[in-house]
Amino acid sequence: MSEDAVKQMKQAVAKAAADRVQSGMIVGLGTGSTTAFVIQFLGDRLRKGELSHISGVPTSFQASVLAKKYGIPLVTLDDVEKLDIAIDGADEVDPAKNLIKGGGAAHTREKIVDSLADQFLVVVDSSKLVPKLGATFPVPVEVLPFAVAPVTHALKALGGQPELRMGVKKDGPVVTDQGNLVLDVKFEDIPNPAELEKTINNIPGVVENGLFVNVADVILIGEIVDGQPRV
Ligand code: 5RP
Repeated sequence: MSEDAVKQMKQAVAKAAADRVQSGMIVGLGTGSTTAFVIQFLGDRLRKGELSHISGVPTSFQASVLAKKYGIPLVTLDDVEKLDIAIDGADEVDPAKNLIKGGGAAHTREKIVDSLADQFLVVVDSSKLVPKLGATFPVPVEVLPFAVAPVTHALKALGGQPELRMGVKKDGPVVTDQGNLVLDVKFEDIPNPAELEKTINNIPGVVENGLFVNVADVILIGEIVDGQPRV
């Protein structure tokens, strides 16, 4: 599929998600290229007066920069107990609405924000749908820098193949918004995502992993049908 087709699917699904937001809502703002469009479309709706006001809770520095750029007022988790809706992307979605997230290294804050929402709306293009988690994407694991070696050993003992995530230029590791590192862990098979999510988080030094089990409420899927983007 061409890059342009993927962009069209992302824009279509982002628009459909932004259209579900109502005035007065507290909105979790996800991280990634699809949610970047969501934030832009929410800003458009505020500017046009379709929304009188909303408050955003960003899941990353990237999301907060975009929200400021598009005029979305921000609040923190010190200000609100829960959110009305969270809109976030995913790297894989299985038929039970379980996810792998963290392609943007933001899964720790994403899991906190997304699970505090009355409704967690996932926005993906159709390429993200898989029969089983782990089919195409490794499980991102955020790790304290101090503990990278022991966590790597523990993940190997679980049958995973961990790799330290490097930056685009490969001249240094990716550092999360919390100042930690990310191990991308390929598993041959993930028979029980709920169990693996808990087992990984029990390893000392792990901050959070990108398996999101029983968190998503609604999956919106962008696809191309007869050459046209639709949701
Ligand atoms: C960031 C994420 C993203 O939501 C995920 O990587 C999908 O990104 P994109 O919309 O760019 O495909 O989990 O940590």
